[in-house]
Amino acid sequence: MKALNILVTGGAGFIGRWVVDRLLKDGHYVWVLDDLSNGNLENLVDLQNHKNYQDFVNGDIKDIRVLNHLFFKKFDVCYHLAASINVQDSIDNPGKTFNNDVIGTFNVLEQCKRHHVKLVFMSTCMVYERAYSDDGISEMNSVKPASPYAGSKLAAENMVLSYYYAYDLPVTVIRPFNTYGPFQKTDGEGGVVAIFINNMLEDKPLKIYGDGTQTRDLLYVEDCARFVVESGYSDKVNGEVINAGLGKDISINELAKLIVKDETKIKHVTHIHPQSEIPKLLCDYSKAKALLGWEPEYRLEEGIKKTETWIKSTNLL
Ligand SMILES: NC(=O)c1ccc[n+]([C@@H]2O[C@H](COP(=O)([O-])OP(=O)(O)OC[C@H]3O[C@@H](n4cnc5c(N)ncnc54)[C@H](O)[C@@H]3O)[C@@H](O)[C@H]2O)c1
Repeated sequence: MKALNILVTGGAGFIGRWVVDRLLKDGHYVWVLDDLSNGNLENLVDLQNHKNYQDFVNGDIKDIRVLNHLFFKKFDVCYHLAASINVQDSIDNPGKTFNNDVIGTFNVLEQCKRHHVKLVFMSTCMVYERAYSDDGISEMNSVKPASPYAGSKLAAENMVLSYYYAYDLPVTVIRPFNTYGPFQKTDGEGGVVAIFINNMLEDKPLKIYGDGTQTRDLLYVEDCARFVVESGYSDKVNGEVINAGLGKDISINELAKLIVKDETKIKHVTHIHPQSEIPKLLCDYSKAKALLGWEPEYRLEEGIKKTETWIKSTNLL
């Protein structure tokens, strides 16, 4: 495959840095745009000396001048990951999520149209309607904007897909399930796996919102990043919406027990926003397998071990 010029928005964030890593390993030239509102330059330290790493631009996707300037680089693909990602924040402050996730995406989309750049739009499994079937959630399942985060992602998805139909722009919408692994934040902003491991290591209680029977399909971040980059390489997925997940779900109670072993460390607390809780998340990734040949490679136990090793290493610094 020929080396491509690639822009990763949100590339200093948790998943973004793994996407940059994968793209560099695949031989591409990579630019990163991030306003560092939730990302960190430290996440890119191991990558920035790679010969194909081009530049980091500290900028906001809401700033059209920054985008105008950057897109003269003649990108082949733009992976658009920059977003406000917190469901509870989106309920408390919907304007921020709307501006970043809808308006910001529109700005990126306009640039992709102007310069004819393939766009991979990072959506989320949080857009799906409740589904209880053990067959898993496929792209055919109904969607429901249960939070302004989900509503904003759905609005942005629709705009992205409309440019495929109206302007023949190559675009792909991807909906990864809950992703975890090294470089995810371990405080309240992070994901459940990172927070639980960190609390276990610091001998703090593992807090579970609600009764803990809600399930999650947990995707290891290197599997997620491989899925993201493959979506940008293949013409077969233009105009498509595609899921990725482990294909297995686990209840938050079982996850806590897997991580902490000592059950007295587990505490149940009242849910702050029970209306945005999804009781069961299980991914059917058969479309990703059929179109991209993608399947997850890491079992949950392996991913937890890698995450724990990384968190321990950061605590030593
Ligand atoms: N973490 C998950 O489980 C998960 C699952 C599915 C989809 N996603 C999506 O994947 C993407 C990355 O998520 P993440 O977990 O790595 O989160 P993250 O917060 O670590 O990454 C998002 C990055 O975008 C940057 N950013 C935010 N607003 C920006 C703006 N206006 N301009 C420029 N940069 C901006 C942040 O600084 C951050 O580095 C998001 O689009 C998120 O919705 C995440």
